[in-house]
Amino acid sequence: MEITIAVVPVAGLGSRLLPATKSQPKEMLPVGRKPVVQYVAEELTRAGMERILFVTGPGKASIENHFDLNPELIQILRETGKEDLLAELYFERVDVRYFYTRQRELLGLGHAILCSRPFVGDQPFVVALGDSIIGMNAASDVVRRMIDVFAQQRAEAVIAFEEVPRSDVHRYGIADPKSDGDVFELADVIEKPSVEEAPSSLAIAARYVFAPSIYDAIDRVAPGKDGEIQLTDAVRILLREKARVIGVRLRNDERRYDIGNFDSYFRAFVEFALNDPRSGAALRQALEEMLHVDRA
Ligand code: UTP
Repeated sequence: MEITIAVVPVAGLGSRLLPATKSQPKEMLPVGRKPVVQYVAEELTRAGMERILFVTGPGKASIENHFDLNPELIQILRETGKEDLLAELYFERVDVRYFYTRQRELLGLGHAILCSRPFVGDQPFVVALGDSIIGMNAASDVVRRMIDVFAQQRAEAVIAFEEVPRSDVHRYGIADPKSDGDVFELADVIEKPSVEEAPSSLAIAARYVFAPSIYDAIDRVAPGKDGEIQLTDAVRILLREKARVIGVRLRNDERRYDIGNFDSYFRAFVEFALNDPRSGAALRQALEEMLHVDRA
């Protein structure tokens, strides 16, 4: 069965990015020239998605506005001959349909995914976190590879993983893989383990493919201490019931850019800006001067 629906949760508070996110969604922060969520939508469109459902919340209306057609702006740019700027709005016209639903209570990522159930129904679907870009300029086909693995291996879930430094494992869901390799079956996944407990350095990397059975699993997750329903706990329920859950490693050239905290946001912005075809070279020179780097 072809998978053509993606769910993009964007309802979170983004409190780690305050005050930048006080009155704007973190998913709308720019990385280089585009807001984060535009890279995500472009990646999903290239992966063959025909419908993208955003799970939104209060204060997130600018995401909807961003994907709307804007005929007045198009007309002004056309009348004033600004063809180059018109090209920047091409993304409004790509062949994908956008849908929106609200997560009425912020009860965690698992709960946000559950809000997509009435839309998705009884078919497999993709989940892409709205605050993470995969690959420079989102040039990644990992979702396509995951969909292929999902079909070939008759999996219940396929999850993208990225190798992270050992010292960072406590920040992520970490794989306990049954084997080595770029595609591996999962024995377990451990949420934010200590360095000693971590069975690997492979961290969940913001992309998933799920069979609809994930919804029943989320339904059965007990809320954590903070009242949140974690997606990783639902994946563990699948694993306990002997479902096939497969991991797919990101390639070296398709890093995950996580915009959820300032350290990784700043790095992502600088890296994308340095790669910008129009402004990158001048920025590089300015940075070298700032940092007193001698050019050999
Ligand atoms: P995070 O785990 O980074 O949580 O969300 P957050 O609430 O946005 O950020 P902090 O911790 O307050 O800084 C990962 C993705 O899941 C979405 C977020 O919008 C983000 O894209 N999310 C998270 C939801 O849609 N709903 C939730 O209840 C939690």
